[in-house]
Amino acid sequence: MASVAVLASGVGSNLQVLLDDPDIGSQVALVVSDRPEAPALERARGKGVKTVVLEPSGFENRASYDAALAALLEEEGTEIVVLAGFMRILGPEFVRPFAGRILNLHPALLPSFPGAHGIADALGWGVKVTGVTVHFVDEEVDHGPIIFQEAVPVLEGDMEDTLAERIHELEHRLLPAAVRAQAEGRLRIDGRIVHVKEEGTK
Ligand code: GRF
Repeated sequence: MASVAVLASGVGSNLQVLLDDPDIGSQVALVVSDRPEAPALERARGKGVKTVVLEPSGFENRASYDAALAALLEEEGTEIVVLAGFMRILGPEFVRPFAGRILNLHPALLPSFPGAHGIADALGWGVKVTGVTVHFVDEEVDHGPIIFQEAVPVLEGDMEDTLAERIHELEHRLLPAAVRAQAEGRLRIDGRIVHVKEEGTK
């Protein structure tokens, strides 16, 4: 396995799934949040995982924040970065040093409904099918090559919370699968296409 850092701003249910995963859990070496009150931090502490809070207010601009974050992860020997509900956009100062090693989770079928409100936007648009995307992060928001993507039907009478519940359930399956595939060297990026080898193959 590889040393994993998880970046999270909020509840941290996806972080929890990673921490509880028999393969990945012990590899999560660091959890970073931009919000000191993020419940995700408590989840990490509960498992004895090192946490760091990097508040944007302590930095002059986005570039200096991103550079500090990259330096922190490099110092920790991070090999895989997982954005699990990290609500900050990361620029080139962070993305370049970790290119091809940053995974993001998005609660819609990209390239539809990018941004911070993927579930509400899909519901509001009236789509009958939405879903979950796990993708590599590049220098554009919600844009990098797609690793896994699966659909979730929108049901008659769905509200944001009912749809979100089914989306999160799927996220909790796809994110660990993607982290495992990356850690096992089963993902190969070829332009926009990610080739995924089956589990048990190299
Ligand atoms: C997830 O829905 C993810 O797709 C989005 O933020 C949410 C994080 O949820 N980027 P949690 O904090 O892991 O519970």
